[in-house]
Amino acid sequence: MKENRLGINLAGLKLQNPTMLASGILGYTTETFKNIADGGAGAIVTKSVGLKPRSGYANPTVTQTNCGLINAMGLPNPGIEEFAKEISETKNVLHIPLIVSIYGFTAEEYATVAKKAATAGADAVELNVSCPHVKETGSEIGQKAEILKEVIKKVKAAVPKPVFVKLSPNVTSIMEIAEASVDAGADVITAINTVKAMAIDVETAKPILSNKVGGLSGPAIKPIALRCVYEIYQHVNVPIIGCGGITNWHDAVEFLLAGASAIQIGTAIATKGSNIFKAITRGIDAYLKRKGFRSVDEIVGLSHKS
Ligand SMILES: Cc1cc2nc3c(=O)[nH]c(=O)nc-3n(C[C@H](O)[C@H](O)[C@H](O)COP(=O)(O)O)c2cc1C
Repeated sequence: MKENRLGINLAGLKLQNPTMLASGILGYTTETFKNIADGGAGAIVTKSVGLKPRSGYANPTVTQTNCGLINAMGLPNPGIEEFAKEISETKNVLHIPLIVSIYGFTAEEYATVAKKAATAGADAVELNVSCPHVKETGSEIGQKAEILKEVIKKVKAAVPKPVFVKLSPNVTSIMEIAEASVDAGADVITAINTVKAMAIDVETAKPILSNKVGGLSGPAIKPIALRCVYEIYQHVNVPIIGCGGITNWHDAVEFLLAGASAIQIGTAIATKGSNIFKAITRGIDAYLKRKGFRSVDEIVGLSHKS
């Protein structure tokens, strides 16, 4: 049998390789998830879903910069009741872990949505406590350690599945927020969501996005995300998923060396397509082979040891 240097165990979930689809990049349909799995992803994170359907903000919701995207979609989603059907359908055809990203406006709402997602078949939930552009949820929860802890404790009590907590870089100390998350029971930390940002149209003299402020993703935020992962690794002992600006195997390996056990890819899919997962996995495998490592685990956090 061919040796698999790339398999990982993420809080009990078995991934054939450490690449994952980041939340929000490709909608909610079974067909899309199947396409991402065929592209070689080790796991999938859905777009964030809440208790009730939401239409999101008016256009423009996304604008391009010369180093990434700024988006303020406003968390459009069909609501968990509707999406639960898609989760069950997806689980019937998908052979890789499906992680459902959820948000709420109270701790109870997070717990209710998490429970419905887990009942429908989600292998884990990822708490979006880091969206920078919707009031009273996302980063407004993830920036306050006490409220964040309450959310995590309620979700942990409601679901028997691993709970991933996705953090915002828009905080004074991401290490303190990561520690608080783990104290409250987080099984995995995902770092990072987008960086609060904006763009202005000089002809109209108005902000481009209808929400004015959004979140920056793509290559511009990679060094920020890498620093966050490096700092979190020094303070918590649960697996970390690195996310932010990863576009090739070299970026992915940097995150693994900083302390990430897995990586998520978002914006790069827009330019490179779903086969990016295979390309990055091949690159990581070649790197491990060239350096004489037997498994991806051997390089997780290695930059802290040298
Ligand atoms: C258009 C768009 C929509 C997003 N929607 C969500 C979302 O619903 N939930 C979430 O947790 N993150 C969301 N994100 C953030 C990404 O999951 C990711 O954290 C961020 O884009 C950084 O990774 P990247 O540079 O590889 O895109 C979204 C990002 C983009 C660009």
